[in-house]
Amino acid sequence: MIDTTATTPLVRLTDCDKHYGNIVALKDVSLDASAGEITCVLGDNGAGKSTLIKIIAGVHQHDAGRYEVEGRSVRFKSPREALERGIATVYQDLAVVPLMPVWRNFFLGSEARKGVGPFSRLDIGFMRRTTKTELLNMGIDLRDVDQPIGTLSGGERQCVAIARAVYFGAKVLILDEPTAALGVKQAGVVLHYIVQARERGLGVIFITHNPHHAYPVGDRFLLLNRGRSIAYHAKNEISREELTGLMAGGAELEQLSHELERAGTADAQLQHVAEELEREAAQVEKERK
Ligand SMILES: Nc1ncnc2c1ncn2[C@@H]1O[C@H](COP(=O)(O)OP(=O)(O)OP(=O)(O)O)[C@@H](O)[C@H]1O
Ligand SMILES: [Mg+2]
Repeated sequence: MIDTTATTPLVRLTDCDKHYGNIVALKDVSLDASAGEITCVLGDNGAGKSTLIKIIAGVHQHDAGRYEVEGRSVRFKSPREALERGIATVYQDLAVVPLMPVWRNFFLGSEARKGVGPFSRLDIGFMRRTTKTELLNMGIDLRDVDQPIGTLSGGERQCVAIARAVYFGAKVLILDEPTAALGVKQAGVVLHYIVQARERGLGVIFITHNPHHAYPVGDRFLLLNRGRSIAYHAKNEISREELTGLMAGGAELEQLSHELERAGTADAQLQHVAEELEREAAQVEKERK
């Protein structure tokens, strides 16, 4: 377990619960996100990952437990309140306007203006220049910030969203599965910018299904399974193999193979599947040791 007493983290959840009616989406979940660190949240579909970040981002409120920002207990009523405290979220389905230029999307909702009162107008030159430099600062060299954002690749769009959050002063950057829909190369590019955000001193919360994306960049790892925390470790406490094994749910695979075996002795095909699963479970178990 991680020693959480040393410094005050930017975000701290302690024993948080969240119910949707009868469904327990989170139970006794704790997590820290500190400046200059990447906290990874891993888990299968329905594990509670999105629920967790929605609490942090002010979309939902926790039912029990404590949520603190920079050491002070909070209960955000809206994402706007979280944003005002420097907590920015990049959702997987990025809220962009595909036909608008990159710079327009970069400043969407926070347009720069020049002049005062009724004579003020958009400061297009400033927004263009700033978008260009901010992207360059993150190492992204776009040919043309006037091109519609819809013409960028999924990875590039994620990067623009990250650069935007950094520019508008985010302290905590939450990324919900930013690499899920990407190929290996583009995922690599996005991982690079996640590291870049950490280098600039942000606390990053990185949600993913993929231990191979999480392990190389993460400083700490929270594993959720059906709303419960099954592991929470600093990087030096867990190996890539252990993390992968926990994700693959070695024990669950084994259980499933036994059940299939019992149900499927008469069915040759099922038998075959059961054997496959057994081999896979044995492999996972082996990698874990
Ligand atoms: N608004 C809601 N109303 C009712 N149940 C919900 C709601 N949102 C989530 N749930 C349930 O809570 C549980 C956790 O869901 P959550 O979306 O947090 O999982 P997740 O880890 O993000 O999954 P995925 O990997 O599929 O995105 C699931 O059982 C889900 O069906
Ligand atoms: Mg989700």
